Amino acid sequence: MVKTNDSLYSALVDKKLVPVIKISDPDSSEQLADALITGGLSVAEVTFRTGCAAEVISRMKNSRPGMFVGAGTVLTVAQAEAAVSAGADFIVSPGLDADVVRYCQKAAVPVVPGCVTPTEITAALALGLSTVKFFPASSFGGAAAVKALSAPFPDVAFIPTGGIDMRNLRDYTSLGCVLAVGGSFMATEKLIADKAWDEIAARTRSALAAICAP
Ligand code: 3PG
Repeated sequence: MVKTNDSLYSALVDKKLVPVIKISDPDSSEQLADALITGGLSVAEVTFRTGCAAEVISRMKNSRPGMFVGAGTVLTVAQAEAAVSAGADFIVSPGLDADVVRYCQKAAVPVVPGCVTPTEITAALALGLSTVKFFPASSFGGAAAVKALSAPFPDVAFIPTGGIDMRNLRDYTSLGCVLAVGGSFMATEKLIADKAWDEIAARTRSALAAICAP
């Protein structure tokens, strides 16, 4: 199996699933965390697509200390700093920015940049990384592309994200090079805004069952 940062690896290798969260109301932080936990998952990636992302990360971490909460859509060093100050356990970016990567390495926080080409993966390796996000996965060739990329990069772990749902989840998680998949389908922006906690828990449970199914 691929090697990667220890804390990130151990948090993701078991369930292989990362809910990608876009949340606008920080007061829903605790209930959203509980819905995911009820569904069987103690991991979340809270995206910096809303102004309250850092607050949500902080509230999830403080109220549910067992959760592994990362920051997503981190585009700048300033956002990475805000995420780390809020207690983020890991940082995810849609693309590869060397300054963001170096900042996270200095802060000793796992960082997962988006890479979809051999050149981008080579740049990530040169920065000392071994885990990359493959985003947007469905638009860049899906599971077949991840499999093809893993041939020349056998020590790279991939986290495909973008266009993943119940229909294609296993195409990715059945690949040995895939550490986990990310997606918003379990906890969509609308489900969160509607406070549909039971539905989020049910979707999370179904996704985990699909990944585990023989
Ligand atoms: C991400 O930020 O990783 C993606 O927006 C999640 O993609 P999805 O909404 O297609 O799952």
